[in-house]
Amino acid sequence: MSISRADRLAHLWEVSAQPYHRHTREHPSHRQITTLLISTLTTEPTRVLDFGCGPGNSTRVLRRQLPDAHLVGLDTAQAMIDIAEQATPAEAKIEYRCQDITTGRTDEPRDLIVCSNSFFHIDDKQTLLAELDRLLTADGTIVFSLYDTVFRPDTTPRWPLEQPSPGPRPDPLMDLLVAELRRRGHDITTRSEDRQILTDDSLSALFTGCGMAVRCAGTLRLVRDTTERVSFLRIPAVAAEVFPNIPHETVGDALDALDLTSPLPPRTRTVYAFAATREQP
Ligand SMILES: C[S@@+](CC[C@H](N)C(=O)[O-])C[C@H]1O[C@@H](n2cnc3c(N)ncnc32)[C@H](O)[C@@H]1O
Repeated sequence: MSISRADRLAHLWEVSAQPYHRHTREHPSHRQITTLLISTLTTEPTRVLDFGCGPGNSTRVLRRQLPDAHLVGLDTAQAMIDIAEQATPAEAKIEYRCQDITTGRTDEPRDLIVCSNSFFHIDDKQTLLAELDRLLTADGTIVFSLYDTVFRPDTTPRWPLEQPSPGPRPDPLMDLLVAELRRRGHDITTRSEDRQILTDDSLSALFTGCGMAVRCAGTLRLVRDTTERVSFLRIPAVAAEVFPNIPHETVGDALDALDLTSPLPPRTRTVYAFAATREQP
């Protein structure tokens, strides 16, 4: 019996909970992304939803920066919610809910919806946006982050964006990993990652479709060393995105086999923060 893509992704997030939690505890660069998203706000929100809250890293950053807001963290993976609940002190007053945003029904209106590293993980963006639109108050804001692996500014950018450096950049770690996977019999001729690539135009069209305007509100450069990148690639959901046709366990075994004794250059990623609000008639 073949398992649906949605069920496969849901399973991958469940088994990613512990590795993701460990990774983000040891390499806190992810929290900078939530901080960047908050820094783009122009009003003080009172009812906040952290969609795709994972083990609660982003939700706890939100709590620190918005101490008086009513705060809900929502995630589809029960294992993520369990960790979030354990890792959050009761006095933080964060309510965590296990729910798939695209099928669930969260009914309280929110004046801020935060998607910190979660927007790009949802395949069906139309359904996601319809749900976010339904939850958002008339003057509310949706903020979300996109890595330069999933967002490519058009050649004539509509927003003042930091452009990723043109052309393919050397990536010795990925070269070593691909060589090891090939040695194990995996036919990687062209790497096709399991990621939808958004552009200025496709993003604008998505939001315009539900009466919203979206703009790039900030950027961040994240420098990740080899240890951090290896730890990230060990997360099953990440391995499955980068190598969709190879079991994540095999990617983990191949990472174990790499000789990383000689230092490799760190990798710089650009993270884009976007803010979407309703267009005034
Ligand atoms: C990369 S983690 C981000 C966690 C956290 N926001 C952070 O910044 O560290 C993405 C999260 O989105 C969740 N997710 C994926 N699809 C979802 C869906 N349809 N509904 C709710 N959460 C979902 C995953 O379970 C995962 O915990």
